[in-house]
Amino acid sequence: MKILVVGSGAREHTIIQALARDPENHQLWAAPGNAGITAEAEVVALNATNPKVVTEFAVSSDIDLVIIGPEAPLVAGVADRLRKAGVAVFGPSAAAAALEGSKAFAKEVMAAAGVPTGQAWSVSDHTELIEALDRTGAPYVVKADGLASGKGVLVTESKERAIEHAEFYLQHGDVLVEEFLNGPEVSLFFLSDGHTVLPLSPAQDYKRAFNDDQGPNTGGMGAYSPLPWLDDDFVATVQATIAEPTIAEMAKRGTPFVGLLYCGLVITDTGIKVIEFNVRFGDPETQVVLARLSSPLAPLLYAAATEMLTSVEAPVFSDDVALTIVLASEGYPEDPQSGRPITGLDEASSESVSIAHAATAWDGTDLLATGGRVVSVVAVGSDFAEARTRGYSAIGKIGLEGSHFRTDIAQGIG
Ligand code: AMP
Ligand code: GLY
Repeated sequence: MKILVVGSGAREHTIIQALARDPENHQLWAAPGNAGITAEAEVVALNATNPKVVTEFAVSSDIDLVIIGPEAPLVAGVADRLRKAGVAVFGPSAAAAALEGSKAFAKEVMAAAGVPTGQAWSVSDHTELIEALDRTGAPYVVKADGLASGKGVLVTESKERAIEHAEFYLQHGDVLVEEFLNGPEVSLFFLSDGHTVLPLSPAQDYKRAFNDDQGPNTGGMGAYSPLPWLDDDFVATVQATIAEPTIAEMAKRGTPFVGLLYCGLVITDTGIKVIEFNVRFGDPETQVVLARLSSPLAPLLYAAATEMLTSVEAPVFSDDVALTIVLASEGYPEDPQSGRPITGLDEASSESVSIAHAATAWDGTDLLATGGRVVSVVAVGSDFAEARTRGYSAIGKIGLEGSHFRTDIAQGIG
């Protein structure tokens, strides 16, 4: 197949690495891609959030399948334009992408579909804000309604900080005040063709910048999969109580969801609840989920894109475990330093360790770190002790001045 992957992060590099492992020999493009992706795909410098530009490229290159990685092109309607031009695309329409693009919309869909989630109040001014904060009490959960690159959510014991955060986002639109949900978090992805879903394997993400969940929220500092501590019926329960009702509700509204429904879940004392939906593969969870996928990826995504999910075999995952450690630039997430050379990636790679590039570029002689999250080191092993040893020994070989990473990924897991 001729496949175009839209995006430029470690998630997109991971998707491309998985496609390159398929038994079928695909022709791969990435737009705009990054330095690491050039090993497996041809990178095309184009504006990935511009529906017209992406569609013109896909049509003129005779692309069979477009896979959209990040949320921004989806919310901008890139999938809509591609579909109109007759191109198969894995990724929802702008209307369906509102499940991530607007937290208030997601709450409304969940309420209509009977999907368990925290109670939330949408507020649009100071008075409503204070009322809502007084109703929930501490810890306070305040969320910007729209896309905010993972920075829109604040969980805090301090009412002053909650107010400050909310007032900032109220300048741009509504803010959600949400009930605090207590319990372990799980990310579970479902492929959807608009009507049918197929689950992938659960993963856990480490969102805070530093060990022991200290420091600010980030885009994600590491992940592991599978989660040996989950109940056996976890995936089936989430499929029946969350994924299927949501997909059915979206279809009923005439905005079927085609692509990947990312269920961000909390296991509370009163059951599994949705903390958020995303409308695309998670980063860095994808790195560990796809590292364990042993059946081909392209046929699955193509089937989802063409309403044929009932006719494909469910994905198969290896018994090996996987973890990923994100190497971040100095100052990430507040003020990442960029432009520094990064070394040792070849030495760090092996049969059981792969590197997914996120923010890298060649300047002619050196490979440079060009942003906050620079690479994801992905290690597999027969258990987490083995995968940790491999992953941490590999990341130790990478040189990037001032960089940091968490040392507790998958620590103490079975
Ligand atoms: P989100 O961007 O919605 O995934 O939120 C980022 C992180 O904030 C989540 O992974 C949780 O750790 C935390 N969070 C969000 N909403 C809640 C909530 N209602 N209760 C507790 N923690 C939350
Ligand atoms: N890992 C969190 C996300 O992809 O949104």
